[in-house]
Amino acid sequence: MTQELTSPSPAPQAPGTGRGPGWWRDAVIYQVYVRSFADSDGDGIGDLRGARERLPYLKDLGVDAVWLTPFYASPQADGGYDVADYRAVDPLFGTLQDADELIRAAHDLGLRVIVDIVPNHTSDRHPWFQDPELARQRYLFRPGKGESGELPPNDWESVFGGPAWTRTDRGDWYLHLFAPEQPDLNWDNPEVHAEFEAIMRFWLDLGVDGFRVDVAHGMIKAPGLPDIGHGAQAQLIGAQVLPFFDQDGVHAIHRAWRRLLDGYGDARGKQVIGVAEAWAPTAERLALYVRPDELHQAFNFQFLNAPWQSDALRSVIDASLAATASVGAPTTWVLSNHDVVRHTTRLGGSLARARAATLLMLALPGSAYLYQGEELGLPEVTDLPDEVRQDPAFFRGGRATGAVGPGTDTESAPDGAAGGQDGFRDGCRVPLPWSGELPPYGFGPGGSWLPQPADWGGLTVAAQTGDPASTLELYRAALELRRRLPGLGDGPMSWAPAPDGVLAFTRPGLLCTVNTLGHDVGLPAPGTPLLSSAPVTVDDATAQLPGDSCTWWAI
Ligand code: BGC
Repeated sequence: MTQELTSPSPAPQAPGTGRGPGWWRDAVIYQVYVRSFADSDGDGIGDLRGARERLPYLKDLGVDAVWLTPFYASPQADGGYDVADYRAVDPLFGTLQDADELIRAAHDLGLRVIVDIVPNHTSDRHPWFQDPELARQRYLFRPGKGESGELPPNDWESVFGGPAWTRTDRGDWYLHLFAPEQPDLNWDNPEVHAEFEAIMRFWLDLGVDGFRVDVAHGMIKAPGLPDIGHGAQAQLIGAQVLPFFDQDGVHAIHRAWRRLLDGYGDARGKQVIGVAEAWAPTAERLALYVRPDELHQAFNFQFLNAPWQSDALRSVIDASLAATASVGAPTTWVLSNHDVVRHTTRLGGSLARARAATLLMLALPGSAYLYQGEELGLPEVTDLPDEVRQDPAFFRGGRATGAVGPGTDTESAPDGAAGGQDGFRDGCRVPLPWSGELPPYGFGPGGSWLPQPADWGGLTVAAQTGDPASTLELYRAALELRRRLPGLGDGPMSWAPAPDGVLAFTRPGLLCTVNTLGHDVGLPAPGTPLLSSAPVTVDDATAQLPGDSCTWWAI
């Protein structure tokens, strides 16, 4: 499929171009899960035009950039992470013209735009896979084991459940670490490298400011595709190097892409970035993805998975900062995304903890990613009927939450919440509530592809706007302060003394306290409260930190 722009013209420039310290080092980037953000045409599925119309909301929220999840031509076997044409927009989401207009509109507002790139696998509808000759060279086909090749070539399991191999009519097998509709590419073939570099240039020419690299730890497989010899592989993902994940060979690809991104940006006086979605067993191994000649950022999933306990949080923060500092990179914090249980639910079903965790994250040095709807304090939806489920893992008996990484904080999550509803990912993908008392809450003129809860009227953007106690206004205030306090993003951090269960640290211009206990804790007031996730009181120089709260103090 070839799509053309009706009025091709030079790509719009990103705001604040040029090499400098790096806009991405302290950027707050908002993840737009396109199909659930805003629907302009009433089909119940969010689209690019809907996203464009809501950009002023994101500007007003105070983020620096948006990351758009895949909107490319796709049969949607895995929410668009099964791409059939990397240069075309799926009609569900609009046209290439809509993508162009969205990028321009974002830049006009001073927002940068990052798009997803999916290099580990394509859709089985991709023209390469459809052509048996090309497929054999560009994907991973192997003969089966057993007398007549009736057994898979090795014991690898799909992240979504079941074997990672499917047998073709011709009798051989192809590898798919995810769904059978997502065959893994053969990155030993130089044509695959060339194609992905060309795809990147295509989107860079349209003006994007970077790429979120899907499964950035997956493209290279261990030579000989050795057995793992362990039957519960989902639990090993992110816990150890596997023959299909976090192989050292992936770094050569990232180095090549960094050269491409730097070369492209330098020629145009802008900085374009790559952010790795990589599940690595340790902070040190994750830091390898952000060495100076590799990608710019890598999501810190160890922080995302940390339990709500002061010691655990402190050690994950220390380990992350030390590891990234050792390679001169900032840390990239994240609490929620479209693959994991929303942090309101994950952290024990507690909005208070979620608000505190967010303020903690935004006080840490580095960049942060926000997932749409977390600024509304949305919980995971855990009562979706089977007939509306779309997560491919639901149909394969896998365990898709943490699909690409280890499980979540099972200890503090309520029953069923640790892995989403029965372990699947639809519950964090329910369309956003914008306004009104009834579904679809302003999501669009039609319905919504997943049903929204009947009690979300109080959580809409409209309901929360202007209410100083709302989660939306808390996010707005935090992002505004982050902009006003120089050095907060990328400056130094030092721990300060604090009672058990409490974290305290200083940053340029503030001191942050986090009370992870479920009850108030008193301590000498460290300064004047600037912002707090829960009402904090100061009496006679003693501060009472509410349970499960975070406070930023002016010092
Ligand atoms: C994406 C998932 C997707 C998987 C396979 C992950 O990184 O975030 O949503 O299912 O890759 O592409």
